Amino acid sequence: MSSTSSSRVDLRDHVQDQDLSEEYLSSSSRDYSAGSSPLTTPALSDEEFDFDVPSEDALFAPTQAPADGSEKYIMVIGGLGYIGSHTTLELLREGHNVIVVDNLSNSYKTVLKNVRMLAAHHCKVNNTPMPRLRFFRIDYRSKAMHVLLERYSNLVMTVDATSGKQVVSYQSRIAGVIHFAAYKSVVESIQQPLRYYRNNVCGLVNLLQELERFNIRNFIFSSSATVYGSKANAGLPLKEEDLIHHQVKTQNEAGETTIVEPTIEGLSCPYARTKYFGEAILADVAEADPDWRIVALRYFNPVGCDPSGVLGESPRGEPTNLFPVLTQVLKGDRSNLNVFGSDWPTRDGTAIRDFIHVLDVARGHIAALNWNSKKGNGFSTFNLGSGTGTTVLEAVRSLEQAAGREIPLALVDRRPGDVGMCVASTERAAKELGWSTRESITKCAADLWNYVSKVALRS
Ligand code: UD1
Repeated sequence: MSSTSSSRVDLRDHVQDQDLSEEYLSSSSRDYSAGSSPLTTPALSDEEFDFDVPSEDALFAPTQAPADGSEKYIMVIGGLGYIGSHTTLELLREGHNVIVVDNLSNSYKTVLKNVRMLAAHHCKVNNTPMPRLRFFRIDYRSKAMHVLLERYSNLVMTVDATSGKQVVSYQSRIAGVIHFAAYKSVVESIQQPLRYYRNNVCGLVNLLQELERFNIRNFIFSSSATVYGSKANAGLPLKEEDLIHHQVKTQNEAGETTIVEPTIEGLSCPYARTKYFGEAILADVAEADPDWRIVALRYFNPVGCDPSGVLGESPRGEPTNLFPVLTQVLKGDRSNLNVFGSDWPTRDGTAIRDFIHVLDVARGHIAALNWNSKKGNGFSTFNLGSGTGTTVLEAVRSLEQAAGREIPLALVDRRPGDVGMCVASTERAAKELGWSTRESITKCAADLWNYVSKVALRS
């Protein structure tokens, strides 16, 4: 689309400041997942918005230029969850203005204050201006999302390249969207498949439509190594091309063509299928409209936390992932760790995973965002993993070392749906994104213990 701008209407005038109600902070989170569809939610009320982070402008006034309506933002949906909060923090540390959208269904408002505090500290130490951080406590599937996107858009007059006619369209100040807001429990997804499909799949489709309306087509999607399904059991590092969504044709030097058809194998639960469907939908969207630049990041096993010990993983409800369960044991909330399976064909009989420090995952998002802005083209996938396999027992030992105490274990049966080995091939991310992990499992364990001993033990 050509962009000869002859007039500009600032839509911020249409949303009054009272829409940002700090009072709503203390009221309970609105759960759109339970009752009526978010799409039937009544029109926007003051309650939909939560609050702007008020004090950073005051704190950093001397170095922060006043907003003039031209500043760009990265929108982080689900930006206060475990990976979301670390990514928000890294974005701020890298100087990006951030809009966080989160309904606090699996996170806490204190996380926002901690992110802000850590980012402010970083900026102070490095003598850099504190970027803008805006928070909206809304469900990304609610109608409030439309108003929010409108708020960050300008109406511009452009000339249509083919017809030569003048058209009015939205130009967003949101330069990219990172979408974390999804449910991720395997067990829950088996019990409540429709809830998972409604959020992880229907929610994604509606979000993409909204983004298209506002001409936002730079999108990073939280995917998972779970999309490889039972291909993981081959015992080899998983390559991105092990799961493709469209036919791939290649030609060798002799002119011979090879055609690879997409195949999926052994997706073990509704959660895994939501991630697969999410990717497939995104691949189709990018195929249909070449203006989209979409990256799906396939996370292996994110663990650890910011070394400050201020941010960590604190899911609401019963944790099922290894490190959150280990945290419970260390805090004394659980007597022992049940090790699911000690008869896998691995060096100690326990399953092998590719544990990756959450800060590396966060940096992976920034690398993907930068790559997507400059070189992105259609739909792309990247593994976010270290390439190193660690057994469950080795992971436990690293945490025991960090904590200086033994973790009681019970060896029990394999967990249904588990795979014996799941390790990333890291080649594509290293070559294309220029990204690879910096931290070891030892560092993951040390940072987690730091968080547990500093914060979690006190709560
Ligand atoms: C799981 C999901 C995966 C999802 C990821 C993040 C399954 C089969 N896969 O990955 O789709 O993307 O979480 O939510 O659940 N373990 C124990 N005891 C425990 C907990 C875990 O021994 O109490 C073992 C597991 O059996 C596994 C390893 O630790 O071998 C890692 O488990 P977990 O942290 O749940 O991650 P994944 O299973 O790899």
